[in-house]
Amino acid sequence: MKDALIIFDTTLRDGEQSPGASMTRDEKLRIARQLERMRVDVIEAGFAAASNGDFEAVRAIAEVIKDSTVCSLARANENDIRRSGEAIRPAARGRIHTFIATSPIHMEKKLRMTPDQVVEQAVKSIAWAREYTDDVEFSAEDAGRSEIDFLVRIFDAVIKAGAKTINVPDTVGYNVPEQYAATLRTLIERVPDADKVIWSVHCHNDLGLAVSNSLAAVMAGARQVECTINGLGERAGNASLEEIVMAVRTRADVFPVETRIDATQIVPASRLVSQITGYPVQPNKAIVGANAFAHESGIHQDGVLKHRETYEIMRAEDVGWGTNKLVLGKHSGRNAFRARLQELGIEMTSEEHLNLAFARFKELADKKHEIFDQDLQALASDEAITPAIEHYRLVSTRFHSETGEIPQAEITLTAGGHETHSKSTGSGPVDAAFKAIESVAASGSELLLYSVNAITTGTDAQGEVTVRLSRDGRIVNGQGADTDIIVASAKAYLNALNKLHAGGEKLNPQV
Ligand code: KIV
Ligand code: ZN
Repeated sequence: MKDALIIFDTTLRDGEQSPGASMTRDEKLRIARQLERMRVDVIEAGFAAASNGDFEAVRAIAEVIKDSTVCSLARANENDIRRSGEAIRPAARGRIHTFIATSPIHMEKKLRMTPDQVVEQAVKSIAWAREYTDDVEFSAEDAGRSEIDFLVRIFDAVIKAGAKTINVPDTVGYNVPEQYAATLRTLIERVPDADKVIWSVHCHNDLGLAVSNSLAAVMAGARQVECTINGLGERAGNASLEEIVMAVRTRADVFPVETRIDATQIVPASRLVSQITGYPVQPNKAIVGANAFAHESGIHQDGVLKHRETYEIMRAEDVGWGTNKLVLGKHSGRNAFRARLQELGIEMTSEEHLNLAFARFKELADKKHEIFDQDLQALASDEAITPAIEHYRLVSTRFHSETGEIPQAEITLTAGGHETHSKSTGSGPVDAAFKAIESVAASGSELLLYSVNAITTGTDAQGEVTVRLSRDGRIVNGQGADTDIIVASAKAYLNALNKLHAGGEKLNPQV
């Protein structure tokens, strides 16, 4: 019998700290459902004290998720912990994850607290958290640069206070595998009652070592890994869930642990997170990149055809490639449409919402004969986002672009319910469309990113556009999908404007 390796997914919390990756409540719910389907052990659903929106999102996830533990992050103070406690109250299994920095530089320069004060605050925090749940996790922020004697002291104190999981984050991605594993080994040897708690790791990828450090720590005794889908996360990101899970599974001869993850849900989860956050997956990304199972050279292709294992260590279908099934077509009815959405974990909040989505589906099916799961995911986002935060809505578009002529766009949209019409020229039709929208919105925002991806294969595929806007230090991503990429672009731009318009300032836990 192997030990269980607990997979703690923090896509909805640390992942959301990637610039512009903030998600709406409904988007978070869709991802949480997919994580549950994938049998993730713990879902870190957010940082409940960050804003009312974050609190509501954690609570909504706690209400619906039954098979995974739902966790909220809290700084080590009474207000954060009580907000987290309230947010996870409805959960079948709820966890509070509290943290305080322990490195000399963080204690002195950021917290301006003495080591004694930090230990006292950590112990009090565990006691507050225990009023809500027995499942309390403690993290020593910047443990990777903390003194080992101080870590032993603070971990001893929080275990005595009732913490059940002890997390040793490499917050700034500074550690290297041998050293990080040695830290874990030393802590497990020296901290009293170390065998009564789960040792956890949380590695950032600043030196590209997040997965290697996490796996080295597993060899040294860690039994929980904190990770994210596609390695999303603060700065260079976190350890990627798919790489951790598949390394442990593929090298079962090396690792003394096993996970509960249903790996066939990995690719659908990766696509969903990428589509919702607007963070594309690089083609050569392990496991989930478009080329991860593609063999280009003749020698490799020949080898794989003769015997797959000559060049493949995993099977594409085992991680969910090939699930892009042809699902529906022009003649599919409302019930089939609703049933497939349910299978994909997409919940329509009302009949009106379903009707809107179904009308969009019919429109799409007229233009595109084969509708795949990814088309439905994009379509659901389109319809799921807009009713909640809509201020601007696209009514119609008209473009003129011809060799030797200046491209022109005409846009009709509603702003706060009032229909307006605008026209502009630009260096290309997309530029003209954005200028026409801005002549109405006058948002004062800066365009940071514009990207287009084909959702499926074929020239009739929908284009999925991401637009990243920044204003007053706030960064948002907007998405839009359509078979006409100019329309998709206009939708994405308006979606980003809607997010800016909806406001919703929130705290970053590390600040
Ligand atoms: O990177 C980090 O230290 C964190 C903690 C809050 C666990 O995200
Ligand atoms: Zn982190």
